[in-house]
Amino acid sequence: MKKQILLIVSGGIAAYKSLELVRILRRHNIAVRAVMTKSATEFITPLSLGVMTEDQVYGDMFDLKDEREIGHIQLSRQADLIVICPATANLMAKMNAGIADDLATTILLATNKPVLAVPAMNVRMWNHAATQRNINQLRKDGIMVMTPDSGAMACGEFGPGRLIEPPEITREICAQIGVTFDTSLCHGQSPTTQSNGQDISENNQSPAGENILAGKHILITAGPTHEAIDPVRYIANRSSGKQGFAIADTAAKMGAKVSLIAGPVSLATPAGVTRIDVQSAMDMQSAVDDALPADCAIMVAAVADWRAAHNAEQKIKKDGDALAPLQLIANPDILAALAKHEKRPKLLVGFAAETENILDHARAKLSRKGCDWIIANDVSTSNGQGVMGGDHNDVHIITANGEENIKHATKESVAQTIMERIANVL
Ligand code: PMT
Repeated sequence: MKKQILLIVSGGIAAYKSLELVRILRRHNIAVRAVMTKSATEFITPLSLGVMTEDQVYGDMFDLKDEREIGHIQLSRQADLIVICPATANLMAKMNAGIADDLATTILLATNKPVLAVPAMNVRMWNHAATQRNINQLRKDGIMVMTPDSGAMACGEFGPGRLIEPPEITREICAQIGVTFDTSLCHGQSPTTQSNGQDISENNQSPAGENILAGKHILITAGPTHEAIDPVRYIANRSSGKQGFAIADTAAKMGAKVSLIAGPVSLATPAGVTRIDVQSAMDMQSAVDDALPADCAIMVAAVADWRAAHNAEQKIKKDGDALAPLQLIANPDILAALAKHEKRPKLLVGFAAETENILDHARAKLSRKGCDWIIANDVSTSNGQGVMGGDHNDVHIITANGEENIKHATKESVAQTIMERIANVL
């Protein structure tokens, strides 16, 4: 017999993902009947959900027609599992207190069916002692409460509280009701538009993310710097500029005005990007100053920490077996200076290239340099990934509030995720 879910949608920004959940469940031949709280209807319409379930959507406890034909007890009686998605802090608090002041909470108090809650909320609400107390008690009462994902939130903060992605929720539901989960049924277009045409994706962007950064100026540094020793020699590093150029390309595609200050690299300029070529750290610092003001600066360049104290006018001659007379002095720290600049961008993002104790060193850099986020990557060649110069990266976005790992992916894909997070904040 066909399995049936009673889906309760409560009011949070993640409510739109319930539409995708319904689609994937139905592809698994699972019938879905939906109930919405009043606040859920502020985020998605009953019409949208009804289109996805191909059924009436229930919401009003005192709707006589619904009560006569179905009744709130009957609604849960027909279900194999009740799924609350998203489950807000408020709804779980009511469940814990045994409050039944609307159809959703009345069903939850009256049911003897298994209940799976999929929370989604702001990181501080999730971490609040009251929410944690409620969840502990609900779990003791036999409610299955999934642990939310960690990452960037629609509100711009980081940490636990993001709704688990619909395919993973489906996997759990299938396990609970004895249906075989099939990943191939999870692919396809996400429903991100309401029937009234209004976009409802988490960061209010069009599916392609076009123009969400219109009117914003993003300043990006990329590539290495070359620090001259004499007319033919210089100090350099292995940065290719690929990661910074990919970020510039993505930002331009999102509609931003992009100033890309590039060290000496041989990459094509992404469409719509203003490129300023520089050689040394000193040049890069002047170009950064000239490009201000900006809404956001992303410092991807591998700036040389030192330069030759004297840039010899003539090629330095080899003097027998004597050591080269190379004396180094420190370069300015462009990122740290920008953090104290009177035109400091609203969001200042540094990169940290580390070869050991990646996260600890990167966290220390975040506070030492005074930026808002630092994106840590492992540039040791011993891990075989070859991040510097290669096509892939594996980064941790570190903020004051938490961390998000973008696992081994192409630099274009890493750029896309970083720019989505930045767009959320801007
Ligand atoms: O260019 P690719 O081959 O694609 O490789 C990408 C990358 C590995 C170079 C990139 O992802 C990266 O990690 N960039 C930062 C490299 C770096 O110099 O890290 P750092 O830990 O030394 O510096 C920390 C931050 O301070 C960086 O944002 C850097 O731009 C900035 N900095 C450093 C020194 C300096 N004098 N001025 C600076 O502004």
